[in-house]
Amino acid sequence: MAWHYRLRCFNCHTEYLPQTTNHACRKCGGLLEISFDISSKKIPWKNRSPGVWKYREILPLDDDRFITSLYEGGTGLHHCQRLGRELGLKNLYVKNEGENPTGSFKDRGMTVAVSKARELRKRRMVCASTGNTAASLAAYSAKAGLECIVFVPAGKVARGKMLQVIIHGARIFQVNGDFDQAMTSVIELTEHRKGLYLMNSLNPFRLEGQKTLAFEVCDQLTNKAPDAIVLPVGNGGNISAIWKGFSEFHDLGIVTKRPRMIGIQAEKSAPIALAVKSGKNRITPVASPQTLATAIRIGSPVNWAKVLQAIKESEGSAETVSDREILEAQKELAAKEGLFVEPASAASIAGLRKMSESGGIDRSEVIVCVTTGHGLKDPSVANRLRQPESYDLKITEPHWIERLEQVL
Ligand code: F0G
Repeated sequence: MAWHYRLRCFNCHTEYLPQTTNHACRKCGGLLEISFDISSKKIPWKNRSPGVWKYREILPLDDDRFITSLYEGGTGLHHCQRLGRELGLKNLYVKNEGENPTGSFKDRGMTVAVSKARELRKRRMVCASTGNTAASLAAYSAKAGLECIVFVPAGKVARGKMLQVIIHGARIFQVNGDFDQAMTSVIELTEHRKGLYLMNSLNPFRLEGQKTLAFEVCDQLTNKAPDAIVLPVGNGGNISAIWKGFSEFHDLGIVTKRPRMIGIQAEKSAPIALAVKSGKNRITPVASPQTLATAIRIGSPVNWAKVLQAIKESEGSAETVSDREILEAQKELAAKEGLFVEPASAASIAGLRKMSESGGIDRSEVIVCVTTGHGLKDPSVANRLRQPESYDLKITEPHWIERLEQVL
């Protein structure tokens, strides 16, 4: 059973019943969030095995029978000493979310949101997506036996992600517009068709699953929060969810401080980073966002208000990176640490490099970069790699070992 929780508007704090399924406040249009009554609670999860549901008591589901899990969470926190030396950082860690069942952090949120959807007796799931949300929703809907409908920008989704959506049996609508237009259309659709349940990060139950990344990082650092968390930002759900997670562990007295939240965006898709850098308290949407990191090719992030608040409250910051910097970071992480991540995820490493070079990060700080999705999802990056040295080896011919020794 979950501890007592309520649904409330992030903006005007109007409260709603937990079974409410609208995604915005009826009074002011603000985003909704879940608020737990977590003061002076005992911590029952210390000796449980890792994973999202380890933190069952602070996940908003009333009945365990609805839990739909593919064993998400429990991802590695990799101490990256070789890359750290290169960047001049002693304590660099990578939280590698590509290790989740469908290869991205979305699974943390989807296990909770799909379980909640079942509890609320919803049968038709819908989302707009740059790929990973769709892949994750398709998989969890398949597991739960629910219908899954996805809106994707036509021709703009990485191949591996499309393959996942197809194999899990979702219905795909290729929208003749970018992600932001697909998102607006899905919101409009769910307002007209009441049976469709919106599974984007406007769904507050999904963000509750995503907050568990923060809990895990604190557990993995033995009840300490890092000094800073660096992660790619698209629609802004993840950074706000993770900030909420650290705040809850702080309220519970498990950690004594919270990290600075550092959001990284691709330079031509950077409405949030631009607002943060210019000290504005609103974003200006980017009309035609561009980047090869298609996962974060977003010009009008729906969670912008939550993101700006998380960055401000945490005394964090934001940075932009070019596509070239993203690709270099992707290669560097793969070659030095054995971690193959998709371009959007590598943006966090690229941003960290830029910040450490400009003196924005202290050498001895504990830094956690979140790599959000697996590299195999987007095979198109292979076209941009230098052809590797490779030799044909005819092992059916005599003396092949002698011939091989000439090049070894
Ligand atoms: N990294 C990856 C790999 C993503 O797929 C996304 C978002 C982000 C970072 C940004 O996270 O939106 O919470 O700020 N992908 C969404 C999708 C938009 O549809 O898969 P965010």
